[in-house]
Amino acid sequence: MKLTVSAATLGFVALTAATSNQYINYTTVQGYFEQDLESTDPSTYDYTSHNFGLIDRSYDSDKPASKNLTQWERFHAELQALNDNSPKHVSYKLFFLGRHGEGYHNAAESYFGTPAWNCYYSLLTGNGTTTWFDADLTTEGINQAEIAHRYWLAQYKTQHIHFPDAYYSSPMTRALKTANITFSNLPLAGAGAATFLPEVKEGFREGMSMHTCDERRSKSYIESLFPTWTFEKGFTEEDELWTGVTVEPSGAQDERSRAALDDIFGEKKVTKRPDGVCVPHKKNDLVISVTAHSGEISSILRVIGHQTFKLSTGAVIPVLIRAEEIAEEEPTTTIAWTQSAYCAAPPATSTASGCVCQGSATPITSGYPVGGTTVATPTPF
Ligand SMILES: *[C@@H]1O[C@H](CO)[C@@H](O)[C@H](O)[C@H]1NC(C)=O
Ligand SMILES: *[C@@H]1O[C@H](CO)[C@@H](O)[C@H](O)[C@H]1NC(C)=O
Ligand SMILES: *[C@@H]1O[C@H](CO)[C@@H](O)[C@H](O)[C@H]1NC(C)=O
Ligand SMILES: *[C@@H]1O[C@H](CO)[C@@H](O)[C@H](O)[C@H]1NC(C)=O
Repeated sequence: MKLTVSAATLGFVALTAATSNQYINYTTVQGYFEQDLESTDPSTYDYTSHNFGLIDRSYDSDKPASKNLTQWERFHAELQALNDNSPKHVSYKLFFLGRHGEGYHNAAESYFGTPAWNCYYSLLTGNGTTTWFDADLTTEGINQAEIAHRYWLAQYKTQHIHFPDAYYSSPMTRALKTANITFSNLPLAGAGAATFLPEVKEGFREGMSMHTCDERRSKSYIESLFPTWTFEKGFTEEDELWTGVTVEPSGAQDERSRAALDDIFGEKKVTKRPDGVCVPHKKNDLVISVTAHSGEISSILRVIGHQTFKLSTGAVIPVLIRAEEIAEEEPTTTIAWTQSAYCAAPPATSTASGCVCQGSATPITSGYPVGGTTVATPTPF
């Protein structure tokens, strides 16, 4: 499916899915992971409690000789068998979707309370003490990424888990750094695994609201942080999507999440690294790591028909995805971006039912200065 993003007048951005005579439909294959069982409670679930959630069970692909293999080794054989035995237009991949560790914007939302955060503070770039524009990881966020790192290492040592064949990250600083901490210094070469060389993908960024934490820094900045990492084709120097004025509705976010999956499941894509080397995406990349965000992972889960599963900061969810090429035209969808209300000063009360501004002021619904950096009204800091 092709997506064209056009910044129209009046600050509205429309996402248009162009018609094509085929598309890929995604489904979650249930029965392999605890996270896709209705009986699992996401709010208390700890992904490090047992093999990332891999269910202890037998598989159709088990052989007498696999008796002594670990659950993860047998799962990997099962994943290969699913692909080997499927028709040409069907394929399977295991995705590890990781939420970034806690960022300064998460800490600020807890500090101010969600309603006050949404109605006012999130529109500022920070408060002089901390910055929440393209927020960095807090110490707690770094710890959470280190937990993920240690868990991968332990899963490799005890379970011989198959490390990812390919890595993708959202372009936001908190996601890039989480991926780096999680996957640096693992014994990948010793395991015969792919080198950790992520591709930065715009399609995996967080849903774009008016919050400044949803604006990304430039491509040059990301290159300076991680000089060897790759960018998807067409990745722009500046952030051309976040406006600070309009809000990406979940339907539009789902269309871009779907397009990002299409890139990964498509066979012939090639990425050019900063050093000029072209890296082909391999059809046999079966295990994929994506480091993204709460809202973005929720969006991917909607696209693949997975039950709602909200992750805490730093948490990881594995999902087995079945992709089927459907030889039909996908319906065209045009989803206009919207706007959300906010207050020109810290709200009078914190309420979940909308913005209640000081002095009974009517919440503003249009024309917020881009980036919150040129706030015309007085700011408290
Ligand atoms: C499994 O391991 C045991 C003990 O190491 C060994 O005796 C047995 O032959 C192995 N079985 C298979 C099917 O490899
Ligand atoms: C800024 O916000 C942080 C929470 O993110 C808080 O800890 C800090 O005290 C605030 N600074 C000021 C000057 O209010
Ligand atoms: C990447 O991770 C490694 C290992 O944790 C660390 O030494 C390095 O400072 C990180 N780089 C950045 C830019 O965060
Ligand atoms: C597409 O996938 C969804 C789940 O993500 C499923 O409910 C639907 O039946 C599938 N459609 C087709 C045509 O296979």
